[in-house]
Amino acid sequence: MNKIAIFASGNGSNYQAIVDAVKNGALDASIELLVCDKPNAFVIERAKKESTPIFAFEPKTYETKAAFEKEIVLELQKREIELIVLAGYMRLIGPTLLHAFSKRIINIHPSLLPSFPGKNAIGQALQAGVKVTGVTVHFVDEGMDTGPIIAQESLKVEESDTEQSLAEKVHTIEHRLYPETIQLLFQKSFLWEKEEASR
Ligand code: GRF
Repeated sequence: MNKIAIFASGNGSNYQAIVDAVKNGALDASIELLVCDKPNAFVIERAKKESTPIFAFEPKTYETKAAFEKEIVLELQKREIELIVLAGYMRLIGPTLLHAFSKRIINIHPSLLPSFPGKNAIGQALQAGVKVTGVTVHFVDEGMDTGPIIAQESLKVEESDTEQSLAEKVHTIEHRLYPETIQLLFQKSFLWEKEEASR
């Protein structure tokens, strides 16, 4: 059934790209839940419009990260989620979620990792004066943008590029690369089948 949950904190253009890929048949998956830690984020409006069930929460109202992650895990298990797709979720994933969804959490990052992890990767790349940057899709581990890399695509940085023009180029790549990579993961069932076979 390929049930996925998308985690986002902001605009949600990647959420939208994944929804659109499901709608047009390019991605064989069902988006069962949007998890959002910013109840006023624009991605919530998008999810309402698309009738995606939403779990929105205020981290501040919980005592610990483990406390809100426990609730998220219950929501995910209730819906039999197979893959968690982070799409601009601005929070490190803690052990509670990582252990419950081992090797089943992926992220997209706007640089060629391991260069420029963390916040404002596009600004970091411009500042460093690199001639090439890009986009990375990777499995999530306990570090900041450090898990095993699944897919990467590069793009040229022009002299005339600003943070805004570079962000536009990055987003254009992301909106194609993320749905494609998710589709590939499900097609190959890679890691998961091997993991089950070795049990
Ligand atoms: C993307 O650039 C993604 O690489 C990063 O956060 C951004 C989210 O953008 N992790 P959007 O909210 O999907 O428009």
